[in-house]
Amino acid sequence: MRLPKELHQAAEQYRNWILTYLKIGQELIYLSQDAIKRVPLSPEEIRGLVEKSLIAYSEKKVDMPSKIALHPLEDTFFHAMPAYVPERFAAGIKWGSCFPQNQGRFGFPQAQGLIIFNDHLSGMPLAVMDCKYITEIRTAAVTYTAIRYLAPKDAHTFGMIGCGVEGRQHVKNIATVLPALKTIYVYDIFEAAADSLIADLQPGIGVKIVKAASYEELVKNSAVIASATIAKEDYAPVIKDAWISMGKTILLCEGHTLYEDSIFKRADKYIVDSREQVEQFVQYGYYPFGHPPIYAETGEVAAGTVRGREHADELIIGNNFGMAVEDMFVVRAVFDYALKNHLGVRLPL
Ligand SMILES: NC(=O)c1ccc[n+]([C@@H]2O[C@H](COP(=O)([O-])OP(=O)(O)OC[C@H]3O[C@@H](n4cnc5c(N)ncnc54)[C@H](O)[C@@H]3O)[C@@H](O)[C@H]2O)c1
Repeated sequence: MRLPKELHQAAEQYRNWILTYLKIGQELIYLSQDAIKRVPLSPEEIRGLVEKSLIAYSEKKVDMPSKIALHPLEDTFFHAMPAYVPERFAAGIKWGSCFPQNQGRFGFPQAQGLIIFNDHLSGMPLAVMDCKYITEIRTAAVTYTAIRYLAPKDAHTFGMIGCGVEGRQHVKNIATVLPALKTIYVYDIFEAAADSLIADLQPGIGVKIVKAASYEELVKNSAVIASATIAKEDYAPVIKDAWISMGKTILLCEGHTLYEDSIFKRADKYIVDSREQVEQFVQYGYYPFGHPPIYAETGEVAAGTVRGREHADELIIGNNFGMAVEDMFVVRAVFDYALKNHLGVRLPL
C-alpha cells in the first residue's frame, strides 16, 4: 500500500517534527514497559484508538499481511506482526511470543516481545519498545469495542475467564463500556489468580467482583463473557453447550479453545477481527472442526456498515485473535508522547 499523494506534505511535516527531537538515521529511542506505562493514555483514548484501527483495517486503509508464526513447543508461538497505517504515518512490526508454561517454568509472563517503530519515509527505525503493556491494553480495548456493538446496553453481568495479565486488564475498566454493570464474575483454574485479581482490583471498582466456583457458574450467570487463558493446539472444550443460553455475548482472546464447537455453530452472529487471519489460523490447525460462517469483522460492525446486536436474544460470538494494526495505532500515540516528554533511552544506530 502506498502513501496517498494528498498526505505527502503532512507526512513530511510529521517527520520534521520528529527531527526536532531525534536524529533519524543516527539514533533511536528504547522504551521499556515502565516508560510506556508513564504515557498518560486514558481507557477511553486507548479504546478510541483501537476502534479506529479495527475500522481502518476493515475499510482496507492499512497494509497488514497476516501474522507469520513459529511454534517451537506445544501451545507456544512467535508471531511476526507488521503493519503500515498511511493515515497515521505509522509503520512497524511486533515480534511477540506466547509461552504458556513460562510462569511456572521460568517466572516470566506468558506473552511478551518487542515492537520496532519505523520512519515510513526512509525506513529507518525510530524506536524499539517493549510490547507487553501495549498488547495488554489494546487487547482489552478490542474486547471493549466489541462489547459496545455486540452486547446488550443494559447488561448487568460480566464474566472473565482467566485472571492473568489480560483478565486483569479486561476487568479493570469494563464498567466504561457496560454502564449498567452490577456484578463481575471471575474464574481461573489457578484459584489464587482469581483471589489476587479481586484483592487488587476490587478497591478501585464500584461493581462487586465475585469469584465463580466453576466455568458453569460463571457462564450461566454472565450476560457478557470474555476469556483470556491459553490458546491450545489440542481441542479440549470445558464449557458445555447446554450452559449457554440465547442472548449472551461471548468474546474470545484465545480462539475456540474453551467452548464446545456446537456453540459456535449455533451462534446467530460470529464475528472476527480479520477474516484473512482466521483462514490462516485454520492452516495452523487451530480450528479442527472449522469455523462457522463469518458474519462480519469487528471493524465493519464498529464502522456501522454491518449491524451488531439487533435483538436481545441473539447469541453473538466475537473471536478477536489480535492484529498488528491495533498495536500500531497505540504505538504512534506512545511514541509521540515519549518523544515530546523525553521518555526512554536514546541508543545509537
Ligand atoms: N487476542 C489477542 O489479541 C491477544 C493478545 C494477548 C494475549 N492473548 C491471549 O490471551 C491469553 C492470556 O494471556 P495473558 O497474557 O493474560 O496470560 P496470563 O498467563 O497472564 O494469564 C492466563 C490466565 O489464565 C489462566 N488459565 C489458563 N488456562 C485456563 C483455563 N483453561 N481456564 C481458566 N483459566 C485458565 C491461568 O491460570 C492464568 O491466570 C493467551 O492465550 C494469549 O495468547 C490474546
